[in-house]
Amino acid sequence: MEIDTYDFLSYLLYLILFIWISIQAFNLLFSCSETQQNLPPGPRPFPIIGNLLELGDKPHKSLAKLSHIHGPIMSLKLGRITTVVVSTADMAREVLQTHDHLFSNRTIPDSLRACDHYKYGMVWVPVSPSWRNLRKLCNSHLFSVKALDANKNLRHQKVQELLDDVRAVAEAGEAVDIGTAGFKTSLNLLSTTFLSVDWTDSSSDMVRELKESVWTMMEVAGKPNLADYFPVLKIADPQGIRTSMTFHMQKMKGLFHRIINQRLQAREVTTLIQENDTLDTLLNYFMTEKEREDQLLYKNSIEHLLLDIFVAGTDTTSSTLEWSMAELLKKPEVMSKAQAELKQVIGKGNQVKESDLTRLPYLQAIIKEIFRLHPPAPLLLPRRAETDVQICSYVVPKGAQVLVNVWTISRDPNTWENPNEFIPERFLESNIDVKGRHFELTPFGNGRRICPGLPLALRMVHLMLGSLIHSFDWKLEEEGVEPETVDMDDKFGLTLKKTRPLRTLPTPTFSK
Ligand code: HEM
Ligand SMILES: *[C@@H]1O[C@H](CO)[C@@H](O)[C@H](O)[C@H]1NC(C)=O
Ligand SMILES: *[C@@H]1O[C@H](CO)[C@@H](O)[C@H](O)[C@H]1NC(C)=O
Repeated sequence: MEIDTYDFLSYLLYLILFIWISIQAFNLLFSCSETQQNLPPGPRPFPIIGNLLELGDKPHKSLAKLSHIHGPIMSLKLGRITTVVVSTADMAREVLQTHDHLFSNRTIPDSLRACDHYKYGMVWVPVSPSWRNLRKLCNSHLFSVKALDANKNLRHQKVQELLDDVRAVAEAGEAVDIGTAGFKTSLNLLSTTFLSVDWTDSSSDMVRELKESVWTMMEVAGKPNLADYFPVLKIADPQGIRTSMTFHMQKMKGLFHRIINQRLQAREVTTLIQENDTLDTLLNYFMTEKEREDQLLYKNSIEHLLLDIFVAGTDTTSSTLEWSMAELLKKPEVMSKAQAELKQVIGKGNQVKESDLTRLPYLQAIIKEIFRLHPPAPLLLPRRAETDVQICSYVVPKGAQVLVNVWTISRDPNTWENPNEFIPERFLESNIDVKGRHFELTPFGNGRRICPGLPLALRMVHLMLGSLIHSFDWKLEEEGVEPETVDMDDKFGLTLKKTRPLRTLPTPTFSK
């Protein structure tokens, strides 16, 4: 996830001359003078590169600082791309609710042109009938209460496996890397939910490969790509970002392809479909009469959908888990309170179930507080202005990229008392939730593009964290490290993660 600043700068220098010449030539030819009226205020752009260097390697923080100077809506020039950043709850409402219909398409990072993903992937396709169909499929078949209740036992089983793994590690007196364990479990939870595939024992190579691909794709997608800021460079792909993306996407698509074919073969052999799991739902859904003739087409659609689901759902979930553990280790009194709640509601030695979650208000408050302090997607995903849009007295120009800095919004001192402190109690007396009704806290976005995986994500995060702290006591690996000094540095990719992986020692709270 780390952005290689040095690498980046050297590319920049290399290319500056070339770009400068191209732009001069362009300006001469078309004399495009850039006197945009009423653009939101912002830092003065340098020639050619604009404000690119001001982003730094933690854009959410640099942009927060800039917003303190330039206000809740500001504009920057990132290379050739005008970017508007909003940094308060009120402005977020303007973008995600009042003018949602004008901002509901996305700017497409060049890396997502790999495998034509931007044409099929639900995250990136513009608002259109095919996007609407995908959203409908999500809401009524994949993430509905009914669908999720139907396969919750599969997830319980996977979390039980996580607990068994941790127990084995505990018995050996070793430490657990929470991020890695969480990632593996998130991957298992998604694959069992969507594919009914058990990857734990049969094909650990597959898991490892998939994990590597997902991780690299997130890293690559999060890197500042010159081709995004200087469209002239799109063909050249100067940092090799699209190439690398293509490689990993093809690998993942290949994997899904094999799984789909296996299932289709199995369905041919027996007409008695016993399982009727989510993969069957997907196959049935996409296999309209017409598409049945064109197998490639519907397989391709399913592959791209799964690709988005696995990329959007794994790292976001596991980094939330890792931050939760880190904050809880820093505040042992919160940990004890959460464990006491679990003990009382679930009972010693019993497994936490998804159906218990509504009875665990303190655990829910902890997760909300984690999403407030560590939103996995601090700038959401980029939106694009379809036309000139007036917000307050400013104009967001047609074609501008629009970012919502939820990281700043959920630390706004005008909304939150002690905004940088981890205090779950603040949510016990409040009706604010993360489901998109409150613009002060929108880690999943809002409006028509709100994260469709939200219901599943909340189940997974609560289930994993609740189970881990109900079954084990945790302490930091290094002896003598004071809880307050847990390193909380973050690094920015498409998702925000801890810079230093959290390693913790578990001890069972009860013996099996
Ligand atoms: C902690 C977990 C998660 C967080 C914080 C999160 C956050 C987000 C955000 C901020 C967006 C963009 C919303 C916008 O533009 O307003 C998004 C979109 C999306 N998420 Fe999630 N997500 C999470 C988990 C998941 C999971 C588990 C899945 C699927 C299983 C998923 C699937 C998607 C998809 C498909 C989109 C694109 C929707 C569209 O553009 O129409 N996410 N997510
Ligand atoms: C499988 O599930 C789908 C949708 O949930 C339903 O329409 C279909 O009738 C089910 N098929 C079987 C064989 O149970
Ligand atoms: C999004 O893009 C599609 C296709 O380019 C276009 O038809 C539609 O009007 C756009 N919608 C919005 C809300 O920007």
